[in-house]
Amino acid sequence: MVIAIDGPAASGKGTLARRLAAHYGLPHLDTGLLYRAVALTVLDAGYDLDDSAAATRAASSLIADRLADPRLRDRAMGEAASRISSVPAVRAALLAWQQRFAGTATGAVLDGRDIGTVVCPDARVKLFITAAPEERARRRHLELMRRGENTTLAAILDDILARDARDSGRSTAPLRAAEDAVVLDTTELDADEAFEAARAVVDRLRSH
Ligand code: DC
Repeated sequence: MVIAIDGPAASGKGTLARRLAAHYGLPHLDTGLLYRAVALTVLDAGYDLDDSAAATRAASSLIADRLADPRLRDRAMGEAASRISSVPAVRAALLAWQQRFAGTATGAVLDGRDIGTVVCPDARVKLFITAAPEERARRRHLELMRRGENTTLAAILDDILARDARDSGRSTAPLRAAEDAVVLDTTELDADEAFEAARAVVDRLRSH
């Protein structure tokens, strides 16, 4: 069983994906981390984020060890990842990685922007997680404050709106719900309620 979870920045899809994976005993891949790791590799090597050849090389030689770097979770890295993710050759290089992960015998949970549309178009279960931008900003702000990053709510909201525009507006694999995805708006739901709603969808779809 493959569970494909997509949605915009800070929609709660990551938390949901982790909980669903634990519940169904499936491996989980946060595909945003792949794009973040490519961006970090480019920056660490001293290249500019607009250098698409450097980004493509980083994506082609990405090693799993890179995915554990705590700097990947920094606010700036989300923005950097969003920038390099519009390069088609970067996306192509990461596609095989993701499809290999999804193809294991047990099945898997993957979350990102294009899982239901491009990476796993045949997934049995597709969820599109969304929430109002202000609510996503509030949640991300809390999370960053807990990690000791000192930012304002307004700056986070700006980030989120810019990322929504870039991720939805790019020409290769833009952020959008697959036609057969179930859309779950979590604006009014806490984490437990969102999990229960998602679990009900998965249980209904997996028995089809
Ligand atoms: O989910 P995240 O915030 O960690 O993702 C960081 C950026 O990576 C996101 O703004 C766009 C890009 N991304 C993508 O293009 N496709 C994916 N499947 C996952 C992330």
